[in-house]
Amino acid sequence: MATVDSGKAILIGMMASGKSTAGAELARLAGRPFLDADAVLEGRAGMSIPDCFARLGEAGFRSLERETLDEILARPEGLVVALGGGAYQQEAIRRRLRSGAVTVYLRLSADEIVARLEKTDISARPMLASAPDWRERARELAAERDVVYLGADVVVEVGGLAAREAAGKIAAGLAEYQARQGET
Ligand code: S3P
Repeated sequence: MATVDSGKAILIGMMASGKSTAGAELARLAGRPFLDADAVLEGRAGMSIPDCFARLGEAGFRSLERETLDEILARPEGLVVALGGGAYQQEAIRRRLRSGAVTVYLRLSADEIVARLEKTDISARPMLASAPDWRERARELAAERDVVYLGADVVVEVGGLAAREAAGKIAAGLAEYQARQGET
C-alpha cells in the first residue's frame, strides 16, 4: 500500500467511528506502525484526556493536539494515525495536514454514532460528558463536523462495518486516491 508506505494516512471522524480499531487493522495490513494521536498526547501531557480538559480547558487541550500532531508529522516513516475527533475542526491542523499526509474520513450516520457511543464510557469523553444530554450533543457535533470532515482526501462510509471490513475499504479508498493522484 504505497500511500501508507511513503507517507502518513490520517484517519479522521467522530468519536466511536472506529478510527483506532480500523486504524490498527489498516496498519497491520500495510505493515506500518499505528499511532493513536490521543494516546501520544496523553503520554506527552502526563495526564488523561479528561484531566487535560479539566485542568487546561478545551483551548489548552486543542493546543496540545496541534503540538502532538506536529511531533507525529515530523517522524520520517510512513504511519497510520488515528486523530482525535475534534482535531480536524481546527484550521491550523487542516493546514498542517495538506502536505505530507492523506486524510481519510470514516463516515457513519449520527444514529450509528450514538449507538456505538452507548457501549462506551461517556464520562471519559469530556465533549459529551459536560452536555446536559450527551446524545443530542453527539448528534449536533456529528452534523456540524460532517461538513468539515468531508474536506478529507478520501471519504469511506463505514456504517455497519466491523474494524477489519472498514480497514479493507480504507485500503481500497487509499489505493484509488493514489491512482487518481498518479493521473494528474
Ligand atoms: C474529542 C474526541 C476524542 C478526544 C477528546 C475530544 C472530540 O477522541 O480527542 O475527548 O472533540 O470529538 P476520539 O475521537 O478518539 O474519541
